[in-house]
Amino acid sequence: MKVRLPVRRAILERKTYEPPGEGRSGKLRLDFNENTAGCSPAVLRALAKLTPRLLAMYPEYQQSTKRLARYFGVAPDEILLANGGDDALRVFFDTFVDPAGSILICEPTFPMYRYYAEIVGARVVALRYSMQMQFPLDAALSALRNKPTVMFIANPNNPTGTLLHSSSIQKILRAAPHTAVVIDEAYAEFSGVTVVPWIRRYRNLFVVRTFSKAAGLAGLRLGAVIANQSSLALLQRAMPPFPVNLAALAAAEAAVADRGAIRRYVRGVTETREWFGTQLARISVRTFPSAGNFLLADFGPTGPALFRKLEKQGILLRERSREIAPGFVRITIGTRDEMRRLLCAIEASGYSSRAGKRNN
Ligand SMILES: Cc1ncc(COP(=O)(O)O)c(C=O)c1O
Repeated sequence: MKVRLPVRRAILERKTYEPPGEGRSGKLRLDFNENTAGCSPAVLRALAKLTPRLLAMYPEYQQSTKRLARYFGVAPDEILLANGGDDALRVFFDTFVDPAGSILICEPTFPMYRYYAEIVGARVVALRYSMQMQFPLDAALSALRNKPTVMFIANPNNPTGTLLHSSSIQKILRAAPHTAVVIDEAYAEFSGVTVVPWIRRYRNLFVVRTFSKAAGLAGLRLGAVIANQSSLALLQRAMPPFPVNLAALAAAEAAVADRGAIRRYVRGVTETREWFGTQLARISVRTFPSAGNFLLADFGPTGPALFRKLEKQGILLRERSREIAPGFVRITIGTRDEMRRLLCAIEASGYSSRAGKRNN
């Protein structure tokens, strides 16, 4: 029997996705912007309270939604929970984007926006950050005149670490009456900046948040979309009945109840990020000002060889040579000890910033 499955054209035209996250266990994982210190012990206590009876039943969401909404300072009907930030982003495609639609992004940025658009077969309008990692605001405002279906902005942006000023976001929102504007605030706890309070003013504004970063729950998968109640109701129509698992809910509730732990972790990362940036400057490696739990660094043309060497030693960084220029890398900020280990490995590798100097 000859089988010919009726696969969609957009899927046939896609490259097969290579999952980047296998075989990392036991290594120094500074490649995915995770919380390397681990979540609050209160989370483990909450998970230990789950019983076989509870696990046997489909989860209920009302109580948890109420508590998590309070954490973000919104009403329960202004928040929608999803299976991680990635899944929260997918809902915009199910709700708004068909193959005739388009998305507007500024690269380099979080790759999932482009990824989902390619699955749909929608057009991707991609602007570029400058080599100084400046957001192309004028180009974005003029691209909005073509009414893209959804615009995605990560703020702070991954991998640049840059923060778009609130006045620029306001300009974008005002220029986009026909576009859903998604402000992806996966790293908002680190930047201390959020546009969540604006959801009552702008019906085209959607904010994505995650419990994977500051709360340290990447393994449990919980994300959220926060928006005006009437706009959020549209996304709700595209949701399955049980998108989030019970353990993730219990963990997130415990995590937000122990805000002190989140605050302490964020403070530690911010201090270590500044320290590590200074250390890289000392060996003449350029970094860009970051508002996230990571740093974008430019090791120049000899950078890629260094990253291979580090990888062989079990130190994982997220190389961004292809997306930006050879030698660019995104480094997650781990604990002080972890960053010291990385620094020692760089210095011991014989890496020379002079050999790695870029001409521009
Ligand atoms: C900008 C941005 N958005 C969303 C996510 C998705 O996070 P998660 O799916 O773990 O919630 C990430 C993860 O790295 C990210 O960097």
